[in-house]
Amino acid sequence: MTQATVSSLQDATFKALRDYIYEHTGIFVPDTKKYFLENRLARRITDNKLSGYEEYLPFLRSKGDAELKILYGVVTTNETYFFREPQQFDVFTKHILPRVLDRKRNKEIRVWSAACSSGEEPYTVAAILKETAPAVRADIIGTDISDGVLESARRGIYSSYAVRIVPPYYQQKYFRSNGETFEFDESLRKAVRFMNVNLIDEKSVRAIRDADVIFCRNVLIYFDDKSKRKAVSLLYDALAPNGFLLVGTSESLHNVTRALQPTVIDRVVLYQKAGS
Ligand SMILES: C[S@@+](CC[C@H](N)C(=O)[O-])C[C@H]1O[C@@H](n2cnc3c(N)ncnc32)[C@H](O)[C@@H]1O
Repeated sequence: MTQATVSSLQDATFKALRDYIYEHTGIFVPDTKKYFLENRLARRITDNKLSGYEEYLPFLRSKGDAELKILYGVVTTNETYFFREPQQFDVFTKHILPRVLDRKRNKEIRVWSAACSSGEEPYTVAAILKETAPAVRADIIGTDISDGVLESARRGIYSSYAVRIVPPYYQQKYFRSNGETFEFDESLRKAVRFMNVNLIDEKSVRAIRDADVIFCRNVLIYFDDKSKRKAVSLLYDALAPNGFLLVGTSESLHNVTRALQPTVIDRVVLYQKAGS
């Protein structure tokens, strides 16, 4: 069966699927994005020889976790690249890191890239730490809801798109290229721990505690206010006292939380947890 033969997604089925996705991921698919779900799910219907979209939800329930994991990969948007939003990494290097190091003295620091997609964000952090604070012991964690992107992250092989704004010095030092693909430095790959964490699932987020810095960028934009609040309150719990949270440059936590104190440095907004 080809995609063209899958009948269209009816409103009632769309709403039931949308609710299911929302409940499990926090991602809210608005009515205007019905086409998005329709396109993304078409392959699941044909690959599983279902007669139409209305059979998908019962199929999903009957398959349990295995299909749910596939669905996470289907409904998420995984766009990312190394050194994305570089002004945030500048502020991380020049302002956040010195404060964290000053407070932690010789203790290990923990940096969490929450919703890391295929790993470019935590690997950027690993390379920056290696350059700017090589003696510091760092626990760098990359997490995502989708196992597919976590697998790519562990592989560490990227296209030219992913490395296009990497400063030449970093590109030469931390990537091995055959002209087509770019393999990220093996020892730095080993310095990052990857785990599956669902940002709206308390039990799942609880696996991470005492983070000095959390990057949670370009994921809350897919959530509605209720799931944003839930995720941010779980991130708050995961932060160490005085820890910092960074969201994407186009995002704001205004109306989402009052527990974190916003500060602007070099036009970058940082959210900080109070000290104990
Ligand atoms: C656009 S990428 C952002 C990647 C990176 N943080 C960046 O800014 O370049 C969004 C990621 O959020 C993940 N995601 C979506 N919902 C999630 C959830 N409930 N828990 C954890 N990750 C989630 C997706 O799988 C996707 O990889």
